[in-house]
Amino acid sequence: MRILVKLGDLYGATRLIPIESAHISGVSYKTIGDAPTEFLEEIVKTQGKTKVRSTVNPSAFDVDRVEEMGISKELRQKQFKIIDLYKKMGVTPALTCTPYYLEKPKPGSHLAWAESSAVVYANSVWRAWTNREGGPSALASALIGKTPNYGMHRPDERNPNILVKIKPGLKREIDFGALGIYVGKLLKEGIPIFSGLTGYTKTGLKQLGAGLASSGMTSIFYIREETERKDLEKITIGEKDLRNTIENLSTGSEPPDLVFLGCPHSSLSEIKWIAEEIKHKKVRNDVRLWICTSRHVRNSAKRYVDIIEAAGGKVLCDTCAVVAWLKNLGVETLMTNSAKTAYYAPTFNRVETVFAPMKKCIDAACEL
Ligand code: F3S
Repeated sequence: MRILVKLGDLYGATRLIPIESAHISGVSYKTIGDAPTEFLEEIVKTQGKTKVRSTVNPSAFDVDRVEEMGISKELRQKQFKIIDLYKKMGVTPALTCTPYYLEKPKPGSHLAWAESSAVVYANSVWRAWTNREGGPSALASALIGKTPNYGMHRPDERNPNILVKIKPGLKREIDFGALGIYVGKLLKEGIPIFSGLTGYTKTGLKQLGAGLASSGMTSIFYIREETERKDLEKITIGEKDLRNTIENLSTGSEPPDLVFLGCPHSSLSEIKWIAEEIKHKKVRNDVRLWICTSRHVRNSAKRYVDIIEAAGGKVLCDTCAVVAWLKNLGVETLMTNSAKTAYYAPTFNRVETVFAPMKKCIDAACEL
């Protein structure tokens, strides 16, 4: 309660409001370490229990495939302990960054979500209302069932303040991700309204939101057909801006050791697409192909998962390449279609990155 009241005071909230769900980050032992684990232990000792539907972000490995992921016994125990502590609080161990594939938030519902890509998606695509919480504040909201009413919970703070005109016809998922990275850096906390975006899919919007939230602090975006809004500041994004952003998101070159798809975690339609693409191919012996998703989606995609795994790929749950210990697996170069991963992995995982569309990633992973 003290965390929530302090946040409310800082940001000018007038009261606490009930939330429909919480989504908590800070689960992978690789990213949080020991002190936050002790904090979770203290909450469990005092019988802390969640008051609303609560889910958690990915951990450092697929809990059913620990053996394959090069994890020492000690690290395994530490990760399982964190998951267990959340379970004791009543949190659903979804271990995914796309909780909206488990249960779609209702338009206008108030949430306290901590995964930045999911926050942008929930606000922009589902029209739910959530601030970009930190792990501790999302957990506090899960335990209290409420959040302070500032920021994205107020209609007047959700208005767009900059018109972003797009010239090129964006098609590939990497174009949307790169657009997000470019605009996120420019705007920081601004709220963009994109004009000129046509033919987009939910996958494209997921990449756009993840990119915006990686390089900036944007929590919501809008899309409109009209190109004139006289009341707003305008910026125009040209083909060259996107081309440069895409080039800069690659720090290395092919061949990769690991091809990683599924950041943010894959939807059923993405897994289906990958299965179609790979069904007559074979993954090379010297490359790993990871497709990361939630257990929920993996279970409903069994037919496609079987095709991908028969070709030599792995459809992993509960984790992703960014929060896993890649160095333990000897990975030096990671290839991905995710702008968010390409943006973080060089510093977070200390690997080289190659940023390319899904089809090119699969081709790089497979024998000719
Ligand atoms: Fe999800 Fe990992 Fe990307 S948590 S958003 S797949 S960096």
